[in-house]
Amino acid sequence: MKIHKYSIKKSINFLKKNECIGMPTETVYGLAANAYSDKATLKIFKLKKRPKNNPLIVHYYDLDTLKKDCHLNKYFNKLFKKFCPGPITFILKLKKDSHISKNVTNNKNTVAVRFPKHPIARLLLRKINFPLAAPSANISSSISPVTKSDVEDEFGNKIKYILNGGRSVIGLESTIVDVSNKPKIIRLGGLDLKNINKVLKLNLKYKFKNKIKFPGQTKLHYSPGVPIKLNVKIPKKKSAYLLINKKKINDKNYFYLSRKRNLTEAGKNLYKTLRNIKKRKFKLIEVEKIPNVGIGQTINDRLKRASTK
Ligand code: TXA
Ligand code: MG
Repeated sequence: MKIHKYSIKKSINFLKKNECIGMPTETVYGLAANAYSDKATLKIFKLKKRPKNNPLIVHYYDLDTLKKDCHLNKYFNKLFKKFCPGPITFILKLKKDSHISKNVTNNKNTVAVRFPKHPIARLLLRKINFPLAAPSANISSSISPVTKSDVEDEFGNKIKYILNGGRSVIGLESTIVDVSNKPKIIRLGGLDLKNINKVLKLNLKYKFKNKIKFPGQTKLHYSPGVPIKLNVKIPKKKSAYLLINKKKINDKNYFYLSRKRNLTEAGKNLYKTLRNIKKRKFKLIEVEKIPNVGIGQTINDRLKRASTK
């Protein structure tokens, strides 16, 4: 994708004025603002209608910029080397003299950080001298956006600018690993857990729980506002049916996440498809069984959360 100098300039101007902008990343679009500014980060919470106690992820260009704000450690270094920039977020201990706004961390002594791979996000981050706090650019508990027009869907003209970066190639949020202490998986995401375990030589698992510390990890999340039923072999006539295996007969209510059982492709298509189904006013979504391996685990996690509304 061509990078337009003009749009980067415009984004920088808004960010410097403590405004929020839509920012493309390879996982999902973010609602970005200066992470060092109380005023700018407060706007994120207001726009998203996000509970103040749900901390934000901070996006950095490189290690030099990160080191000013966080304490690094051996687990972080190993994973950083292998996967960054990319779809992984780290929870790290915050430095006492860090400039990160208290709004971002909800006054905690840890912070979530990530290095997005999207070339436009990287270019933007390189050209500013502050990191960007950016949660997914959707109203709290709605579906995450994967294109500029999805962000417009969510906020209309309430945000000043959206930087266009085409469609997010991963289409699922980053995997979050807490390395502020003994490593722990906080959220499944676009990076397969297996890869993290291989690097750390550990066998970390993720448990789907109802009782969680952070509101961003509640069950009621990623929701299209339509009931979802999982592991359905034969769908009802009027429901939208999500599939990953090509069928001989095709109904007009069939929505393929993949036709080849390709879970990476299915992950990329998940949010776009859910958004599309929501717009078409289906009353029920039914889903073919999705193997609970690799990115399939992340897809099932999101569908389970979305189905508990
Ligand atoms: O792919 C992504 O991660 C996208 C793109 C835009 O980078 N961002 C994203 O942000 O998904 P958000 O705000 O939708 O999800 C951030 C998650 C929340 O569940 C929040 O509770 C958790 O990160 N989080 C943030 N700080 C934390 C901390 N100190 N400890 C534990 N969890 C934290
Ligand atoms: Mg989100």
